[in-house]
Amino acid sequence: MSVPRSEYLSTAWRDGIFANRVLFITGGAGSIGSAQTRAMVHLGADACIIGRSVEKTEAAAKEIAKVRNGARVIGIGGVDVRSYDSLKAAADRCVKELGSIDFVVAGAAGNFIAPIAGLSPNAFKSVIDIDTIGTFNTIKATIPYLIESAARNPNPNDDGTTGGRFVSTSATFHYTGMPLQSHVSAAKAAIDSLMGSVALEYGPYGVTANCIAPGAIEGTEGMERLASASIDRRTRTKGVPSGRWGSVRDVADATVFVFSDAGNYVNGTNLVVDGAGWRRQGAL
Ligand code: HXC
Repeated sequence: MSVPRSEYLSTAWRDGIFANRVLFITGGAGSIGSAQTRAMVHLGADACIIGRSVEKTEAAAKEIAKVRNGARVIGIGGVDVRSYDSLKAAADRCVKELGSIDFVVAGAAGNFIAPIAGLSPNAFKSVIDIDTIGTFNTIKATIPYLIESAARNPNPNDDGTTGGRFVSTSATFHYTGMPLQSHVSAAKAAIDSLMGSVALEYGPYGVTANCIAPGAIEGTEGMERLASASIDRRTRTKGVPSGRWGSVRDVADATVFVFSDAGNYVNGTNLVVDGAGWRRQGAL
């Protein structure tokens, strides 16, 4: 079979591996989230994108649907991951309209640059609420559907089908601590822990749960926010052992791997996609 070309995907993957499967993704209109969604849709999945902004979320869904003829991509805006009820309603609507939830990406996140002394208690709490509580809410709203999907798609199996997989977008800040990012660091550490618990509790049902921890990814909102705070781009690029910043495609490829048959036995772990950058991080 010919291998599809896509700027969001390496050539390692073949057509249709996610046919008849549905991706549910929070933050799916963002730079990393939309690349993950494009890659999955390119390879056959349908998708449901969740976001706070109605306009941005619906526009992203429309654009992503163009990736593949016949792709069904819906955008559900007006959903704040801090509200369990609105997430639950979105998950139920996804299943009603698209038939299932087979893969979940918890990608919604909040970030800004601030020293600890400049963080109000509410500022710290806002990021914990979006990142950590939002990931918990996403797990809680979707895990019954992932258990059903895993039962329909036992892994490993003979036909290359997968389902029942959860990926959280984490970070590497908490491996070392990170100036001006104490709030994000703490929130992401908790997300790593949550994925471990999901792997332990629901692994026996066939569900997998992993973190993907991107490093400095070019062209993302997060990087714009961080890089604008006196981080010299050239210096930082030199500091990455792989010699470059990451691309959204690097993260999309990692996501496809974890969701694919190739990732059947990858459970409860952190896949760091950062060119070994975290090994040199920690001081500005
Ligand atoms: C100090 C700040 C601040 C800043 C906001 N606050 N910005 N404090 N420095 N720069 C404070 C506010 O004063 C307020 O505290 C509290 O945070 C909540 O702010 P609100 O604006 O009321 O909250 P909300 O509208 O919910 O917005 C949440 C947000 C915002 C996190 C502050 O930035 C947001 O919505 N972000 C979502 C999009 C986003 O950040 N995307 C990038 C993700 S990238 P007080 O005390 O005044 O009430 C990412 C990368 C991770 O996560 C790292 C990867 C390598």
